[in-house]
Amino acid sequence: MDSSTDGFFRGRRLRRSAAVRALAREADLSPAHLVLPLFITPGKGLRREVGSMPGVYQTSVDEAVRDAERAARLGLGGVILFGLPESKDAEGSGAWAADGPVQQAVRAIKDAAPELGVVTDVCLCEYTSHGQCGVVREGTVDNDRTLPLLARTAQSHAEAGADVIAPSDMMDGRVGAIRGTLDEGGWSDLPVLSYAVKYASAFYGPFRDAADNAPTSGDRRGYQMDPANVREAIREVVADIEEGADMVMVKPAVPYLDVIREVRAEVDVPVFGYQVSGEYAMAMAADARGWLDADAVLTEMLLSVRRAGADRVVSYYAARYAERVAAP
Ligand code: PBG
Repeated sequence: MDSSTDGFFRGRRLRRSAAVRALAREADLSPAHLVLPLFITPGKGLRREVGSMPGVYQTSVDEAVRDAERAARLGLGGVILFGLPESKDAEGSGAWAADGPVQQAVRAIKDAAPELGVVTDVCLCEYTSHGQCGVVREGTVDNDRTLPLLARTAQSHAEAGADVIAPSDMMDGRVGAIRGTLDEGGWSDLPVLSYAVKYASAFYGPFRDAADNAPTSGDRRGYQMDPANVREAIREVVADIEEGADMVMVKPAVPYLDVIREVRAEVDVPVFGYQVSGEYAMAMAADARGWLDADAVLTEMLLSVRRAGADRVVSYYAARYAERVAAP
């Protein structure tokens, strides 16, 4: 290194104190980069902790409003809503019920905290009796018959006042179907955040406790992506943007940092990473045993997702990060 008179690179200069490290830091992680998932159940005054996800709750609408107000106070980037319906059926009709838990929660949260971004997850798996993300015909999920149901669900979220619609079902053509329905209904300015790249991942295990959406038979490998593939991720992203996606998501996050990096390089729309339930649960479980410090580990994981190129990260840790790490 010719910049140095003593013949070697003095990398430690930029690490010598917290003040210098702060000036030299590349990636940053603030509460505004994070989006908090909320699970909404019917009822009132309900707050049930999810066994495999300490600090994550299924709540009724009134309690969800409190969580959303806290998220707003903490400066989080937004919340993303999942629903647990009163009852399920083969079509998942609870997904588009005008007074379903998600639709009610959107209205109540936009009322109480109008500045907070409210994203709604669009999928049928929490609402179908079989737990698949679409309607089942002859043992497989019927792609094209599922599309109008997803579009109807998106429309019910739009009617409730959602800020962003986020389809997570992995049916082909669903972004186009949703975009078309929104445009026809007069919501041409309502953005779609597509879970464009969603892997068939074992890391979703704890979410199935939280959202009660485990398939009663089979798995989701017929529509979610093979964990071995990255070129396919680019095809999914490009197709979704052509169909009208305004933003794209990669999920899970940390096991797929290379995918986030490639998606970031390929397109210029906002890219989200989703630090999923299993990523969160692993850190919390190891922390409970005294094996790892969950705050340190989850913060490092979130930073890696930002470093890989994600603009925003969905994380169960969002509020705790804002309170325990960012604030002090
Ligand atoms: C499907 C959906 C899933 C998650 C979010 N939306 C998962 C699934 O396929 O079961 C997983 C999120 C997580 O694990 O945190 N609607």
